[in-house]
Amino acid sequence: MNIQSFSAPAKIILFGEHAVVYGQPAIAVPIREIRAYASFSLNADSKPGLHIVAEDLGQTITFDRSSEENPLSFAVQTILSHLGVEPPNLTIRLRSQIPLAGGLGSGAAITTALARAISAASDISLNNEQLNRMVYEVEKQYHGTPSGIDNTVVVYEQPVYFVRGHPIERLAIRTPFQLLIADTGVTAPTKIAVGDVRTLYETDPEAVQPMLDSIGTLVRQARLAIEEGKVEILGMLMSRNHELLQQITVSSSELDRLVNAAVDAGALGAKLSGGGRGGNMIALITKDSAVEVQQALIKAGAVRVLLTTIA
Ligand code: PMV
Repeated sequence: MNIQSFSAPAKIILFGEHAVVYGQPAIAVPIREIRAYASFSLNADSKPGLHIVAEDLGQTITFDRSSEENPLSFAVQTILSHLGVEPPNLTIRLRSQIPLAGGLGSGAAITTALARAISAASDISLNNEQLNRMVYEVEKQYHGTPSGIDNTVVVYEQPVYFVRGHPIERLAIRTPFQLLIADTGVTAPTKIAVGDVRTLYETDPEAVQPMLDSIGTLVRQARLAIEEGKVEILGMLMSRNHELLQQITVSSSELDRLVNAAVDAGALGAKLSGGGRGGNMIALITKDSAVEVQQALIKAGAVRVLLTTIA
């Protein structure tokens, strides 16, 4: 049997989550070593239709236009209508190493891999711009009012400096740096945190706007530090970004515990990453502090710690 496989990476937001929804810049990078995969095989005539086997979700669906409330069916429907094709006769297997609802872009990566598989099976070549638009449509269904940063970094698989509604700017990383990504083990839907920030903003814009502006200012400083290879400044900016995220109520006791443990153990800085309230945090480390910070994170409750190099 001829099987073709497609994939897309996880992502982390280094700076600027939430404020990016309100027009501030944000910086995100792909995490290439954790990925979502979609492989397809053509069905025998005896088994017509489009079947999706989502191994990690324990779900098998046979695509049917009327079942849009299922997120996978909605994604497939959006992809097919963008491509302008009828459902092909396929079985698609989805597999993901990216934890769900953890701030690592699992939804965008699964949709991207799925869209790559369906377009290849339909003999349609997609450029990244078309693919990005498609994945954004699906993200809107999951997140309500997404800024578009997740789909952009996952589809292009490049570090980006992102401003909502502006052309994508790639980010050159002058000096590679190392991060630990630690999972609180708490799943937290981004849509709820984003909605709560919206309520806070609408209730008290005079208090919230300056916090969002301060996040924007530090994202611009972080961009310069990354482009100039000034890694030591990045740690300080990360910790300051975390404090501002606490103020807009998207941290949690589990995230704060991991952030404090990382800094106490020698990290240059640490912050939550993504929607917050749970999910993952990141800590900037040096070679000397790596082991100690990793152990401190596990002791403080992290269920998984991943070391990655941003280059
Ligand atoms: O939780 P994630 O990985 O989907 O990241 C969401 C980032 C936010 O800024 C909170 C929302 C958005 O749409 O940009």
